[in-house]
Amino acid sequence: MPRTARGSRGGARQSQGRRGRTGRPRAARRHVAVARAAPLPHIPGVDAAGLVDEVGDGVTGFALGDEVFGAVDVSRLGGAAAEFAVLAFWAAKPPSMSWEEAGAAGTSVETATRALDRLGVREGTTLLIDGASGGVGSVAVQLAVARGARVIGTGRPENHAFISRLGAVPVAHGPGLAERVRDVAGGRADLALDVAGAGSLRELVAITGTPASVLTIADFTGPELGVAVSQGALGGEPHGRHGLALAAALSKEGRFRVPVRAVFPMDRAAEAHAAAARGPRQGKVVITAPFAHGEHD
Ligand SMILES: NC(=O)c1ccc[n+]([C@@H]2O[C@H](COP(=O)([O-])OP(=O)(O)OC[C@H]3O[C@@H](n4cnc5c(N)ncnc54)[C@H](OP(=O)(O)O)[C@@H]3O)[C@@H](O)[C@H]2O)c1
Repeated sequence: MPRTARGSRGGARQSQGRRGRTGRPRAARRHVAVARAAPLPHIPGVDAAGLVDEVGDGVTGFALGDEVFGAVDVSRLGGAAAEFAVLAFWAAKPPSMSWEEAGAAGTSVETATRALDRLGVREGTTLLIDGASGGVGSVAVQLAVARGARVIGTGRPENHAFISRLGAVPVAHGPGLAERVRDVAGGRADLALDVAGAGSLRELVAITGTPASVLTIADFTGPELGVAVSQGALGGEPHGRHGLALAAALSKEGRFRVPVRAVFPMDRAAEAHAAAARGPRQGKVVITAPFAHGEHD
């Protein structure tokens, strides 16, 4: 795989950078389970974007200097909130995507793509996304709309205009969701994606009519209700990495963006993490590397 890139700007709770010694583009993201297993000192971050500075064995189609975005495998190849990172999967960064957007895109796009694939979202589907304003939710809304789905997205009221701009019909989250969905969609959604893990699964099952039509990425009580939990590689299920190239293509057409709500330089990374923990969410928090595009040797 290609190794990394020279980091110009990096990803969010994720970062960017070059590729490492194993030969994959570098990039980054976050995961509690992964972080627990990691030896200290630990470099956090899973998503990243940057310039390829090394290409690993077996990597084709990418060369030194290419602009890429993607994500690291933090448990094997290290984190991404760094000047250099080794990407586990990646796609070419289109000029239409800023470095900040690209550095924040990898895992949200992979996760959203995987979840939409697993649910079978397609043209004509009415999809309810619980947690539509956050990092994964904001990307899932746009990718579902691009498939021709009608999307209803939950968020706190101050995020409703944001959710509308993403292409979804906004409704408030929390108890009474079924009535609110009735008001905007006649009471029924074909499928529901729980991104928030806020305890809404029973209601999502009631709204769709069956647990088979609901998927969660954040509520591990799902199986008690017959609702599947999508965990990606940890769950041994098909991944959504192909979504990165699609997101890049949609970005070029002006149909996709990665909402970035705050950008911090690397020396203020702790503030970035604190900001990421605070609501209201409107997309991603990004950390940029301490050198600018093209300035590193
Ligand atoms: N399984 C996987 O493969 C996978 C991959 C990536 C992430 N995740 C998990 O997915 C979750 C979301 O990640 P993220 O990056 O999108 O997080 P995030 O950016 O913090 O967004 C969280 C979302 O939850 C919403 N929310 C808050 N309270 C809610 C409630 N009571 N009901 C419904 N929605 C509520 C927020 O909306 P408002 O701000 O509008 O209230 C926001 O849209 C996290 O738990 C993360 O660990 C899982």
